[in-house]
Amino acid sequence: MPTLGIIVAMREELEIVLERLQEPQTLQRAGMDFHRGSYLGKPVVAVVCGVGKVNAAACTQMLISEFAVGSIINIGIAGAVEPSIRPGDIVIADTLVQHDVELKALGLAPGQVFRLDTFDFPTDPALLAIAQTAAQQIEGHQVHTGRIVTGDQFIACNDKIQWLSATFNALACEMESGAIAQVCYLNTVPFVCIRSISDNANNDAHMDFDTFLPIAVNNASTLLHAMVPSC
Ligand code: ADE
Repeated sequence: MPTLGIIVAMREELEIVLERLQEPQTLQRAGMDFHRGSYLGKPVVAVVCGVGKVNAAACTQMLISEFAVGSIINIGIAGAVEPSIRPGDIVIADTLVQHDVELKALGLAPGQVFRLDTFDFPTDPALLAIAQTAAQQIEGHQVHTGRIVTGDQFIACNDKIQWLSATFNALACEMESGAIAQVCYLNTVPFVCIRSISDNANNDAHMDFDTFLPIAVNNASTLLHAMVPSC
């Protein structure tokens, strides 16, 4: 059975997996703890990658090259870009773009990666469908599917979210999954990303963030428990 890689941003989001991991083994690579074992009968390697694109890319390549995972789930938090999306809601990515990639001087569009045939990295349709089914278990919050944008910036600015919306038609923004998506694309590894909205990425983002973090952690636990057996 192929091993599933699980990447989260925060340790709390892994608690449900770590509590129930059978035959657990932890290996340190690139300063990260990779927890290997069986979760709900599925071989998994679960890891907290930390914040930002470099951490996320290093973690993803390690999962693929060293732990030979067959597919990857990324769960975490995001800021809302689309105004109708509220903290506590879930956004499942169908594509991911790195909003901070900028080679305009060379005639490239925002987000366009130099000499790569795409920069709007799609998630895997089968994993996306599993995520959508699992997300039905989240009560009291809306579930949205669409583009998530990634950059090495915590967005807390009204002008910036308007730019992200106008330029990329993005639903949400965060700091890792576009990099994970590019590494998965380069290695032809199926990938999906599910994010709970922790803030509105506006001038009050830090206040929302503290309030909605526990909800996001709870959502992550519910989603992982529902998804992993089907992956
Ligand atoms: N992750 C959660 N909220 C975010 C925000 N506002 N900007 C970037 N990443 C985030």
